[in-house]
Formats: sequence, C-alpha cells, structure tokens
Amino acid sequence: MSLKSDLSKAALALKRGRVAALTGAGISTESGIPDFRSRGGLWERFAPEEYATIEAFYRDPAKVWRMLEAMEKLLSSANPNDAHKALATLEERKLLDGIITQNVDMLHQAAGSRRVIEFHGSSSAYTCLWCDARYSREEAEGRGNPPLCRCGRHLKPDVVFFGEGIPPEAMSMADQLAKSCKAMLVVGTSAEVYPANQMPHIASRSGATIIEINLEPTHLTSSITDIFLQGSAGEVMGALVEALS
Ligand code: APR
Repeated sequence: MSLKSDLSKAALALKRGRVAALTGAGISTESGIPDFRSRGGLWERFAPEEYATIEAFYRDPAKVWRMLEAMEKLLSSANPNDAHKALATLEERKLLDGIITQNVDMLHQAAGSRRVIEFHGSSSAYTCLWCDARYSREEAEGRGNPPLCRCGRHLKPDVVFFGEGIPPEAMSMADQLAKSCKAMLVVGTSAEVYPANQMPHIASRSGATIIEINLEPTHLTSSITDIFLQGSAGEVMGALVEALS
C-alpha cells in the first residue's frame, strides 16, 4: 500500500481517540540527539556494558559521568521537533491519552505534552546511591562537575540504568495506558529493550491498532504492526496531523 493510503488509514484510527504513544530515541534525532543503536549512535561511542549499567556506576562513577556529560551537552542544546509538537497537538485535541517515553531528554514536556510517563526515569532529579540523599536538578548543578553529594560520593541522575528496575508508578501507568488505548503510535524505537518493548504487545492484545513510525522496519513491523509508516518521525507525524484536519 502507498504511504498516502496508509497515512489516511492511520489518521482514521487516530480520529477515534483513546490513542497512546510509545516513543524512543528516534523521535529526538531530528533535534540533534543521536539515538543509541543506529550507525553513529551513542552506544558506538560508549559501550553500554561499560557506561550504562548500575554495576558500572558503582564501580567507576567518574567514568560513567564522562558519558553522562556528553549526553547532557547534547540535551542542553536540543529543542522539540515537529514529531514532539505533533504529539502535543494530538493531546490538545483530546485524541492522545498519554505518551510512554523511553527518552530522558524531556523534549515531550518542552513541546507542551502534559501526560508523559517517563519509563526510563528522568534527569530532573539526582540521588546519592551511598547515603540516599536526594537533589533537584538545580541543586545538583551547583555541586560541581560531575556533581558530588554532601557525603563526598558522586550523584546519579534518576535515569534508569541497565540492571535497575522501572519506576513502579511509571510501570503501572504505562501498563494501564497500553491496555486501555484504541491505537498506539510507536515512534522511533528499535523495540529492543525490555520491558518497554512489551507495551505495543499489551496494546495489540487489548485490540489496539499499532501504528509504527520508523526510518526502517523493526521486529514489531512484521509481527504486530498494523500500519507501518516508513520515514522520519518529524515528517510522518506532521503529515498525520495534517491528514487529521
Ligand atoms: N525518524 C524515525 N525513526 C528514527 C529516526 C527518525 N528521525 N531516527 C532514528 N530512528 C529509529 C531507528 O531506526 C531505530 O529503530 O529510532 C530507533 C532508535 O532505536 P534505539 O537507538 O535502540 O533507541 P530506543 O529504541 O529508544 O532504545 C531504547 O535502550 O539503550 C537503552 O535506555 C536506552 O531508552 C533507551 C532504550
């Protein structure tokens, strides 16, 4: 089927409302933040087993902070793109019930989305793993680079590292949203990482139409995706909102 007819099919599904979205790093690449697994992605520069596991952080926090600082630099100069804005528009029009995001760049909130479930946590708060002290982003920014706790140990942003659990509230809200939605937009994710990658399956099992937007097919495309819109998230999401009006 042509992209045009797929677009109108997808727009029809969105018009029914009760839409959920699952987003991954691919929705933010057009904002200048590389994703993780594409060529030139972050995991090519920083091997995840050395930089992104909770064991690595306990073992050598200063080393992990080299990756965190590189990510921080990318996030601080990034702005929401057309895809983030399109999702905010769908929420404004009461068609979108919520976004489950795997991203920690807070670009959905910057675009005006209010119902955002941060499945992999967020860098809006910091914790000391050694004495459990908590700091806001602002407080942490005033405690050196990389930020140290009053007890002298390195602070950790509240983002979920490999080997850590998903914040329980985020897990239950995401599960509820996936079960109750009539359609799920799956935007810019390789769907490689568990348990975020279970959300489209839960939605599909509950009868939702799965609309996948990606530059290339993923393992969802040939299994549970009902409508695959191949292309860049900004362009396709913009065209979808266009097709709705
Ligand atoms: N438009 C649409 N899709 C895109 C674009 C774009 N402009 N750019 C990249 N993509 C797609 C890629 O084809 C890929 O399928 O986005 C996907 C990004 O996949 P990953 O890099 O694996 O990112 P993500 O799925 O978010 O990773 C999940 O893994 O490492 C952990 O915690 C990290 O949250 C992350 C999780």
